[in-house]
Amino acid sequence: MFLNDNLKIFSGSSNPALSGAVCKYLRLPLGGAKIERFPDGEKALKLEDDVRGRDCFVVQSTCKPVDENLMELLIYLDCLRRASAQRITAVIPYFGYARQDRKDEGRVPITAKLVANLITAAGANRVLTIDLHAAQLQGFFDIPVDHLTGELVLSDYFRAKKLSNLTVVSPDVGNIKMASRYAGHFGGDLAIIHKKRFSGSEVEASEIIGKVKGKNVLMCDDIIATAGTVCGAVSLVKQRGAAKIYICATHGVFAGQALERLAKAPADEIVVTDTIPLTQEAKKVKNIKVLSVSAMLGEAIKRTHRNESVSSLFNSV
Ligand code: R5P
Repeated sequence: MFLNDNLKIFSGSSNPALSGAVCKYLRLPLGGAKIERFPDGEKALKLEDDVRGRDCFVVQSTCKPVDENLMELLIYLDCLRRASAQRITAVIPYFGYARQDRKDEGRVPITAKLVANLITAAGANRVLTIDLHAAQLQGFFDIPVDHLTGELVLSDYFRAKKLSNLTVVSPDVGNIKMASRYAGHFGGDLAIIHKKRFSGSEVEASEIIGKVKGKNVLMCDDIIATAGTVCGAVSLVKQRGAAKIYICATHGVFAGQALERLAKAPADEIVVTDTIPLTQEAKKVKNIKVLSVSAMLGEAIKRTHRNESVSSLFNSV
């Protein structure tokens, strides 16, 4: 189609289905590589394709098992650099550790910055990622970062539903900007929930600013981890008389009690993207729907390879 032998896409083990779909979009074969383990558990990587002078992309979400997937990404980057790739882009659909982005109490690390340093030191020349927890995380890297958003695919999906009488709800104050963009896309009202967090998995949705009674609700977040945030929020909007309730988030991390909570939540649909592969247990939760970011990632890779604008991808959001 539009690409040549100079572009190579490799896949880590975290999300081979997504890497395959990206290659399908680009009509390119996946780059050959063998990942094995030494008897002591260390990973060993061997590229099977020549990458000298090539523009190389390695697709790896640093989702669960987070440290293992991160280490594998670092090994890939080092390997590509030592094999004389001309340019290396770390394609990280889901960037784990993103929420550890500040010292909000004494004697804690800023692990998101540490991970950014490791990725750069290992050999990445660029990063392509989706919905970092906070956009300013881009500044943790001193190399170019293309920051995509799942809003492209999620808003297309909900636009096609033609939801009427809509209120877009932000489940906490951190997501107001995202929610107001969604409200802008669909012409709905905006409501915000005041959330109190007690621990990594316990939160309380205590109050709503805005109108949800009798309205269809779209609740949007960047991440569903333990689902405490969105489930607390949907229970509150249901109690306050919301009609249909849709949840959407870019990253379905689904940790801890998330699946139990989501299965019981009064939500009509829970829509996430495939930045993280759905586990067999998650597939059993009947109202979880997954949309693919493969075409968006493939298009961004194509544009990066051709030195074309990636940000213009968002003109259609
Ligand atoms: C918070 O700032 C984030 O946007 C998410 O709302 C949060 O990380 C989700 O975590 P959980 O699903 O564990 O409540």
